[in-house]
Amino acid sequence: MSSTRNFVIFGATGKQGGSAVQWLSKSNADISVYAVSRDPSSSKAQQLTSLSNVKIIQGDSAQPEQVLNQVNGKVHGIFFAPVGFDAQAHIKEGKQLIDLAVQKQVGHFVFSSTDFSGYRDKDTGISAIEAKKEIEAYLTTSKLTYTILRPVGFLENVFMPGYVEAIPHFWPAPIIKSGISTSDIGRSVSEILLEPSKFDGKIIELSGYDALPEEWLKTWEKVTGEDLRKREKKMNSDMPEERMKLLKFIIFNQNDARAENTKAYFPWVQDLQAFLEGAKAKSLL
Ligand SMILES: NC(=O)c1ccc[n+]([C@@H]2O[C@H](COP(=O)([O-])OP(=O)(O)OC[C@H]3O[C@@H](n4cnc5c(N)ncnc54)[C@H](OP(=O)(O)O)[C@@H]3O)[C@@H](O)[C@H]2O)c1
Repeated sequence: MSSTRNFVIFGATGKQGGSAVQWLSKSNADISVYAVSRDPSSSKAQQLTSLSNVKIIQGDSAQPEQVLNQVNGKVHGIFFAPVGFDAQAHIKEGKQLIDLAVQKQVGHFVFSSTDFSGYRDKDTGISAIEAKKEIEAYLTTSKLTYTILRPVGFLENVFMPGYVEAIPHFWPAPIIKSGISTSDIGRSVSEILLEPSKFDGKIIELSGYDALPEEWLKTWEKVTGEDLRKREKKMNSDMPEERMKLLKFIIFNQNDARAENTKAYFPWVQDLQAFLEGAKAKSLL
């Protein structure tokens, strides 16, 4: 019998899944990583072909059976995070995938959810967030061994138009805002899949940095030399209503996660300064 462990990574061309694939590939463990993409011929998928122990397979979480049937042997682990903006589809796909994983006796299931910012037991009225609570509940009451990650906002959001301009103008001064790099999320996923018994049944809130907006601004200035207060104030008002609700929820609520708790599991998570210095070294800033 083969000793190779097989891992299926959904969203493998994206931020979290892509990072998980990279970290698993670097691990030198005896593994096969099945990187799922709707279009294996796309340039993002093709970038993964040179990674060792990685196979690109066609599919997505809407057709989980078609995906898992492409795995040669037992599936030892799955990584899944809902993508797109259809919350009903997230619930359907999440539950369908969990059912199939139970049926196929998948070794371990890693679900990337979100930070609930004080609303774990209260309705946010935001379908994308409530969908994640429903998938979490379904997973924790299933027969699977699992780990749930609850990441705060991605530090990579600083590359999104309008994001850093919002810090001085829209982030409430007394509210601590948190961030985690998607590279660190992928590294967490890799560690969990490689050593699942250590993380079995755990719900881990992921943050690498928690600070008041003023500290975010100081750190930005320290690394880039730029005072963000001098940038023009931008307001994106043509966003669909549900996404605007989500954006307001994120801005006006303080995250539950704290870096010091995350570090109990993953001591290497990066703070904002380390993240920005890394980005600067790669000429991303
Ligand atoms: N942004 C944040 O700050 C933040 C914070 C916490 C949690 N989250 C959560 O993170 C999740 C998204 O994860 P991510 O950012 O890693 O994903 P992503 O990079 O946006 O997408 C991952 C991949 O999913 C595939 N995909 C399949 N169906 C898709 C669809 N209908 N629309 C778009 N892509 C689709 C795409 O690959 P192919 O085209 O190759 O199939 C894409 O590359 C969301 O649930 C979000 O709520 C985000």
